[in-house]
Amino acid sequence: MTGILLPSTQSTQNSSDHSDYSPNHAPNEVFFCPEESYFYSQCLEKMVFSRCSSADRVVEFGSGDGSPVIHSLLRTPFQGIIHGYELNSTACQVAQNRIQQYQLGQQYLVRHQCFFTGWRQHAATYIIANPPYLPAPDNDLYLPALHGGADGSGITCKLLSLGCDHVLSLISAYSNPVDTIEYALDHGYQVADFMISPLKFGYYSSEPKVKNTIKALRSARKAFYSDNIYLLAGVLFQRHHTIRNSTSSTDLSKELLQVITAF
Ligand SMILES: C[S@@+](CC[C@H](N)C(=O)[O-])C[C@H]1O[C@@H](n2cnc3c(N)ncnc32)[C@H](O)[C@@H]1O
Repeated sequence: MTGILLPSTQSTQNSSDHSDYSPNHAPNEVFFCPEESYFYSQCLEKMVFSRCSSADRVVEFGSGDGSPVIHSLLRTPFQGIIHGYELNSTACQVAQNRIQQYQLGQQYLVRHQCFFTGWRQHAATYIIANPPYLPAPDNDLYLPALHGGADGSGITCKLLSLGCDHVLSLISAYSNPVDTIEYALDHGYQVADFMISPLKFGYYSSEPKVKNTIKALRSARKAFYSDNIYLLAGVLFQRHHTIRNSTSSTDLSKELLQVITAF
């Protein structure tokens, strides 16, 4: 969770074009990191909305202000419905206003509810998430809802434990990525596809409590970063029993691990 995005390796648009992401609230009130949200929307576009059909049922963990899904829906022909969940009432209100503004109310529905309470009613085939991944001993942070547990991987692993056929999640190189990917493999997933973006440490990840935890994780080989950047991956996990054709039958977990642990 940064402040600045360097160009994504697979960017399809000028990375400085974040016109859909405008700050309406203080970053302590609603998650605001346009570069990260924009990368998430690129991942959705390439790995979810351009590959699934309108019969797929998509549920989103933590919609935030709704801009990533709105941005990618406007750029793809996907006609299916996305059910989003957002704990933060202000963010949820902003998302609902934006959805109305872009006339996407039939396609993108965001509820003010905990994802884990509501998601099962949709018989989802895809979970999508830019989950909280800040590692820290507790959630007394600038934005408590961004706490990802002691090593930052808690919510991601919980999403991977739900048994959904596809999970598209962002995974940070400083939030114990190796154990997270191994957790996914142990739960019957393979890595069907991924995208990587280098990011700079920003407002949320530079909070001293978070930065100190990241440093400690690094000495235990559970966090990977350089002095200047860390890598953020968008990863499409797919369960083995859903793999029918050769294009999606290759497990890219080894390649992903090599890249994400590069620093
Ligand atoms: C990193 S932000 C991502 C927001 C948005 N998807 C984006 O990429 O711009 C994570 C979001 O998850 C929300 N969140 C945290 N725990 C949640 C839960 N249990 N259920 C629903 N939303 C949750 C937070 O309030 C926050 O808005």
